Amino acid sequence: MRETHSLVYVVDDDASMRESVASLLRSAGVGVNTFASAQEFLVRCRTELPSCLVLDVRLPGLSGLDAQQELARMNIHVPIIFLTGYADIPTSVRAMKSGALEFLTKPFDDEALVAAVQQGIARSHAASRKDKSEREAPELVGSSPELQAVLKRAAAVALTDATVLIVGETGTGKELVAREIHARSQRSSRPLVSVNCGAIQPSLLLSELFGHEKGSFTGASQQRIGRFELADGGTILLDEIGELPLEAQVALLRVLQEREFERVGGNKTIRVDVRVIAATNRDLGAAIAAGKFKSDLFFRLNVFPIHVPALRERREDIPLLVEHFLRLRSRTSGTPLRKVDEWTMAMLQGYAWPGNIRELQNVIERWAIICGTDDISMDESWLPRDSTLPDSTTSAGVKPEPPPDDQQNLREYVEALERKLITRTMTAVGGNQSEAARRLGVSRGALLGRLRKYGPVAG
Ligand SMILES: Nc1ncnc2c1ncn2[C@@H]1O[C@H](COP(=O)(O)OP(=O)(O)OP(=O)(O)O)[C@@H](O)[C@H]1O
Ligand SMILES: [Mg+2]
Repeated sequence: MRETHSLVYVVDDDASMRESVASLLRSAGVGVNTFASAQEFLVRCRTELPSCLVLDVRLPGLSGLDAQQELARMNIHVPIIFLTGYADIPTSVRAMKSGALEFLTKPFDDEALVAAVQQGIARSHAASRKDKSEREAPELVGSSPELQAVLKRAAAVALTDATVLIVGETGTGKELVAREIHARSQRSSRPLVSVNCGAIQPSLLLSELFGHEKGSFTGASQQRIGRFELADGGTILLDEIGELPLEAQVALLRVLQEREFERVGGNKTIRVDVRVIAATNRDLGAAIAAGKFKSDLFFRLNVFPIHVPALRERREDIPLLVEHFLRLRSRTSGTPLRKVDEWTMAMLQGYAWPGNIRELQNVIERWAIICGTDDISMDESWLPRDSTLPDSTTSAGVKPEPPPDDQQNLREYVEALERKLITRTMTAVGGNQSEAARRLGVSRGALLGRLRKYGPVAG
């Protein structure tokens, strides 16, 4: 999507209003395109984005507020100035709450409109500078070979249009990997449209994915553009694909094969150019065996599989992630950067993290919030107690210890945990100290120190 600097779109069904706004803005030195309907405007947005939008509220077909929502669904953030003939307070409140920059009533004040548009343009430019710097910053934190292998696969497939299936436990970062693929692809300036297949009512799924024509079912009071159409030229992320009902699976199969579909209730065939990324934390093999997932759809999706390993399979990423989340927290709250001591880190590295990185992030944030500026140490009470680690899924796995009895102090508890973790890891790697140090995320020297301290461990 090309962003032309200082281009403003004016959407109004009243031709004279359109022209008077356009000529005012042109005389203020801004480029203007005008549209008589929200649909026309949305179609244009797929190829060219304005820096600011002047939008009428009451429009035939899609209203200005509907258009605002569609833009949000397309993940497009353009400053919007609503211009309405009706000083309708509830509507203006709704619009402002959804992020509108300004809500002006007609007849509008020239100066107020020009000032608002200039503010919108300035905001857009600032946002695009920020976007750029964020795009450059690595989002996926972790230096483990397991994560690096994932990133390597993501970077390789990003250069192609191949369908990608991302699998992994909940909270491992599947969505981040999908975003990374899109961001590194040639489609990065076009939309990434995400659909959570598990969160949409099954009866609305087809309409959500493919759109519908006005009157095609009760409640379809207007035509709706589906997510596949919104993603045209870009990428669609079908998240929680394992939750997709069978009927929608059949429809999806056709789009994957032909890249074409009809809107619900429509007979015009629509062709789209979309890269598909699907993600799931379900075992699709088991779902196929249970007759809940179509095997032909699976083969269409599984063109380029990426498995994102669980956090307990890459424990050396834990310190980096902890530091990353603490830094984020300190940046957003303006509080000094906190540090965790090595005992705490050992405890965090010993825990199974069934909710993976999302769970780690939550624990760290909760801790940072509660600590405020106080010095509160993090102990095992910060971790859920009933979580158990399936031994078969981990090479260096350690079941969380039962909570210490009253006589045991934190240090003894952590030491016991640490000793157990080291013993398990040394066993798993057949006594290879470098490999054990790598898996544990500590230097070889630090590991040797611990081995000396705890005496011989199995190897
Ligand atoms: N490597 C990473 N570096 C930094 N943050 C990460 C990393 N991996 C995951 N996260 C963060 O952890 C959280 C969960 O990640 P994400 O939503 O991508 O997981 P998911 O695999 O899609 O989970 P689910 O299956 O539950 O949808 C997000 O807040 C994400 O930003
Ligand atoms: Mg997800």
